[in-house]
Amino acid sequence: MRQIVYISSLCQNVVADIPAILATARRRNAGQLVTGMLFFDGRRFLHAIEGAAGPVQQIFTRIQGDPRHQSILILSDRGIKRREFGVEAMAYRPPAESDLPTIARMAILSAHASPAARDTFDAFMRMRRAA
Ligand SMILES: Cc1cc2nc3c(=O)[nH]c(=O)nc-3n(C[C@H](O)[C@H](O)[C@H](O)COP(=O)(O)O)c2cc1C
Repeated sequence: MRQIVYISSLCQNVVADIPAILATARRRNAGQLVTGMLFFDGRRFLHAIEGAAGPVQQIFTRIQGDPRHQSILILSDRGIKRREFGVEAMAYRPPAESDLPTIARMAILSAHASPAARDTFDAFMRMRRAA
């Protein structure tokens, strides 16, 4: 299986329609046995997706082309033996409900990310703590 963790920013002048994003993602992911967890702090997305390599690639390619967000930075892209972020097609967490063990795991996964990706991740975490 493959797991991708990335960060992105909401495009300026776009209002995040989280329910719409979740509805599409849940439908499509469920159909391909892809699962994931999405965090959103009002400005940035932090998203882990996992599943069979082919479907994960297909879905990530669509996500990369989505004009609602920009500056997509991959924090981690690796092979996994089993799912690490639960079995929901698209679990959603606003900042105040971000669970610390999950955030800690994401921090570990992002440890080898590029400096730019790390900066963005750190900014996301600072905003989360301030929430
Ligand atoms: C932050 C973010 C996360 C997304 N996550 C997923 C996802 O996990 N699965 C998915 O199918 N679409 C996801 N989408 C939506 C896709 O980008 C795309 O709009 C959707 O797959 C529909 O594609 P289509 O318009 O080509 O049918 C996400 C969009 C955003 C902005």
